[in-house]
Amino acid sequence: MINIAVAQSGGPTCAINASLVGVFKESLKVSTIDAIFGSVNGIEGIIENHLVDLKSMILTNNDMELLKQTPSTVLGSCRYKLPDWHDDEEVYKKITETLKQRNIGAFLYIGGNDSMDTVNKLSEYFAEKAVDIKVIGIPKTIDNDLCITDHTPGFGSAAKYVATTMHEITRDSIVYSIPSVTIVEIMGRHAGWLTASSAVLHAMGETAPHLVYVPEVKFSLDSFLADVRQEMSKHKAVIVAVSEGIEVPEGVQSGVVDNFGHKYLSGIGKYLEDVVRSEIGCKVRSIELNVMQRCSSHLGSKTDIDEAEAIGAAGVRCALEGETGKVMVFRRIEDIPYTAVIETADAKDIANNEKFLPKKYINSAGNNIRDFALKYFLPLIQGDLNLITENGIPKHFAIHESVLK
Ligand code: F6P
Repeated sequence: MINIAVAQSGGPTCAINASLVGVFKESLKVSTIDAIFGSVNGIEGIIENHLVDLKSMILTNNDMELLKQTPSTVLGSCRYKLPDWHDDEEVYKKITETLKQRNIGAFLYIGGNDSMDTVNKLSEYFAEKAVDIKVIGIPKTIDNDLCITDHTPGFGSAAKYVATTMHEITRDSIVYSIPSVTIVEIMGRHAGWLTASSAVLHAMGETAPHLVYVPEVKFSLDSFLADVRQEMSKHKAVIVAVSEGIEVPEGVQSGVVDNFGHKYLSGIGKYLEDVVRSEIGCKVRSIELNVMQRCSSHLGSKTDIDEAEAIGAAGVRCALEGETGKVMVFRRIEDIPYTAVIETADAKDIANNEKFLPKKYINSAGNNIRDFALKYFLPLIQGDLNLITENGIPKHFAIHESVLK
């Protein structure tokens, strides 16, 4: 008999808990797996030996259904960068000690490209020290910037939220007779996937978003103002989607960085609002979708949540087959009808790399998304969750704060 451990890491999404359910449910089916441990705050929980017994917390099918509609990470998260073990082995020794002491034979880490650095480093360390503990990565991130995989769990739900919200903002923006500009700031770090997903409105005959700016295209303030003026000559209410990650002048963003050296990005929408106000002088508003785009599970994509669960389950099977240092990935077979299969990739090829929006998806002016790109996005946002509600709002599954402390 072995035990297994699962942890969640990086920025929240609507689908990370669905992957946890996938890991949990699949492990329950395996007679050789005994305890299923959840590590609190990602790898930090393993380092600190802060693990919880998930079987004593997730008791019923209803609990699992609730978890699947609960955004974020029920076990908490972290942005922890492991050192190179040749420079500092101490933390690796602690991790090995916790895992061995708990008889853990497989560790599943649900996270983005930084977390896959942990999967890679740990599996390499265990191989070097002949420690028989399998380490498998389960992808997630709203940024959709993991290499090799067609897409990442969490992206589809975030994209559905972005598109739906842009649609609603469009309706709200056109009510007055005066001209206006509405700038919507969207997350995604250095990759424009999520910002580009706002263009699925074009598939519904909407002209909005009229302008889309992604980090893959060098941003010019002069071109931006010319673009806005041009669109204002055609539309009363101009809607602009802008990625948080486009290049902006020093001082617009706070300069704060996380453990991986990533800048905390926020404020480009407000900055452009001020520019439009002073240079064009029309009614202008900026809207930062902020954390709502990654935690609005009431608008979750069923395709995304189902896939997140399936890829978590596949991770358990992969570990049991004896694999380690792998990340589970999706390979798309068809757009229509949408079909994808789950495969594995080496963690070293995914860790710390970024996958950008293909140049062919961006129009020649560099300020919008081509229609043919929509076939990539549309399948990922399909289907709605049949939400369990209480007092009129979606119910969540939570582990008591005192347990997570
Ligand atoms: O990596 C996911 C993400 O949501 C990015 O889109 C965003 O830039 C970043 O995390 C925000 O970081 P934090 O979770 O620390 O606010």
